[in-house]
Amino acid sequence: MLRKKLIAGNWKMNKTVPEAATLAQEIAAELGRVTDVDIVVCPPFTALETVGKAIEGTTIKLGAQNMHPEAGGAYTGEISAPMIRSLFATHVILGHSERRAYFGETDAFINKKVLAALTNQLRPILCVGETLAEREAGSTLKVVQTQTEGALAGVTAEQVNNVVVAYEPVWAIGTGKVATTEQAQEVHAFIRQLLTKLYGETVAQKIRILYGGSMKPSNAPQLLTQKDIDGGLIGGAALEARSFVELVSAAA
Ligand code: G3H
Repeated sequence: MLRKKLIAGNWKMNKTVPEAATLAQEIAAELGRVTDVDIVVCPPFTALETVGKAIEGTTIKLGAQNMHPEAGGAYTGEISAPMIRSLFATHVILGHSERRAYFGETDAFINKKVLAALTNQLRPILCVGETLAEREAGSTLKVVQTQTEGALAGVTAEQVNNVVVAYEPVWAIGTGKVATTEQAQEVHAFIRQLLTKLYGETVAQKIRILYGGSMKPSNAPQLLTQKDIDGGLIGGAALEARSFVELVSAAA
């Protein structure tokens, strides 16, 4: 298989530490030995350590939801790549549309984070995607291109092997409105074409492109059979063990 499917759960700003421990234990019990699908759970910072302990010794990987590009210093409230690495996390979500929309993150800032993550052996899950207004204006591909190229500026072909891209149409996040398989596949194929232009075919064929936006057990099988959809970045359906387990099964 050229690209192993990857299912990542983004718990967003949900779960206290005890709640996170329970969910992580449930997930570890059901999925802890899965090897045919890569699994990443991304709890809030406060629960990283606890969840890390709950999944220790399993095949499930740990990710953070955000990161500051500097290694340390006077950045009150921020968390750096070395801090995340010290909790044995392997992944970090960067450029999520909620960060772009509510915290004003730009492509240039996201680019700094991507470079810092890679320097610190963290694999970025780089999110890109258009708003409803941008889709209706016919600028979906242009937006996705600008975001992808902006975030990957200065990333070498060797480094990009460690990047996962997540296409998340903003209008589909948490709304119950999932992109049709055709809409999703069209953008995924476009991203792969873009990566081919930037890094060459061999490298681009290995990069995983996840879909995110109201993915759930009922719509996952169709999405996951598309040629360029290599997994999912799951929000709501990752907050409950049953649906997360079903999503992993759909990817197997
Ligand atoms: O990071 C995850 C995405 O924003 C998708 O969230 O599955 O709740 O729509 P959702």
